[in-house]
Amino acid sequence: MISGKKIVITGGAGFIGSNLVDSLAGSNEVTVIDNMHTGSKNNIKKHLESGRVTLIDKDVKDIGNIGVDPDYIFHLGMYSSSPMYKDDNYKVSGIVDGAISLFKFASKKGSKVILASSSSVYNGNEPPYKEEMQLKVTDFYTEARIYVERLAELYSRMEGLSVTAIRFFSVYGPHEESKKQYANLITQFIWAINRGEAPVIYGDGRQTRDFVYVGDIVSALEKAAGIKGEYDVFNAGTGKSYTLNEMVSILGREMDVEIKPEYVDKKAKNYVEHTRADISKAERVLGFKAEYTLEKGIRNCIEYYKGMKI
Ligand SMILES: NC(=O)c1ccc[n+]([C@@H]2O[C@H](COP(=O)([O-])OP(=O)(O)OC[C@H]3O[C@@H](n4cnc5c(N)ncnc54)[C@H](O)[C@@H]3O)[C@@H](O)[C@H]2O)c1
Repeated sequence: MISGKKIVITGGAGFIGSNLVDSLAGSNEVTVIDNMHTGSKNNIKKHLESGRVTLIDKDVKDIGNIGVDPDYIFHLGMYSSSPMYKDDNYKVSGIVDGAISLFKFASKKGSKVILASSSSVYNGNEPPYKEEMQLKVTDFYTEARIYVERLAELYSRMEGLSVTAIRFFSVYGPHEESKKQYANLITQFIWAINRGEAPVIYGDGRQTRDFVYVGDIVSALEKAAGIKGEYDVFNAGTGKSYTLNEMVSILGREMDVEIKPEYVDKKAKNYVEHTRADISKAERVLGFKAEYTLEKGIRNCIEYYKGMKI
């Protein structure tokens, strides 16, 4: 439980960031920096109205000019999906620039940094994914995330910055509306069913994902804030994976509808068939263990997205 602190959350108007704002806003002074690329004011509306949260509509690169002196900086403000980087390769250098500005600023202020990273960095490896695995060259998004992790470690060694990176697996939950086509498959399937359409699955549906509910990611981020000292990195997944077909069956049961997915024989180059976290290090060092079963997380989403036809 973090309280009475000054906190900056980059990407705090986005999906995961705004769930973190929900958890921290009541007992801390929270400043959100978000360039509103996929973020939405709506995600943090109640906190803005109550004056508990300040929103700075700027790029992370401007973090040095916003007049805050934070105890903690949660860095989630980076373009969040692989196709964005494939379409515009310069997004790679953009997030590296942002990270350098943020690490320099945090080193000067003595702020603790908690860095959002991704299970995508393991692409090309066989699950279960372990933190010490050798990372491969697979796509632009993962290169950007690997580079930012390495810079974090460099600032830790050179400048004494305390930074902890968390590799999120497949995160789903409330507040994904403004991510639109980049939202998690679970969320996109709920929207499709709400529209009366069949969810589209690329391939035969036997590919697997380690789906992790956003509430668990918020808890991993808060636990990471308690880590002192040099750079370290942790997985945040459940350690279990489900096929897309199994996920659709759970959705059908929970929504009480018969779902017939449309199977499309088209997969992206470097398509990832299976993901699953090894969570032993996160359990041992962070004390993190996902609390939400897939059924429970899905029920929360169905309730939240009820009637939304996005
Ligand atoms: N959702 C997942 O399954 C998942 C998995 C692995 C990693 N991540 C990472 O977690 C972080 C949050 O992702 P999310 O799912 O909440 O997506 P999101 O797109 O909702 O959140 C990203 C937020 O950052 C903002 N942003 C992007 N670039 C920025 C910049 N240069 N300056 C300021 N703000 C910027 C966006 O407007 C958005 O509000 C991202 O870094 C993402 O890559 C997410």
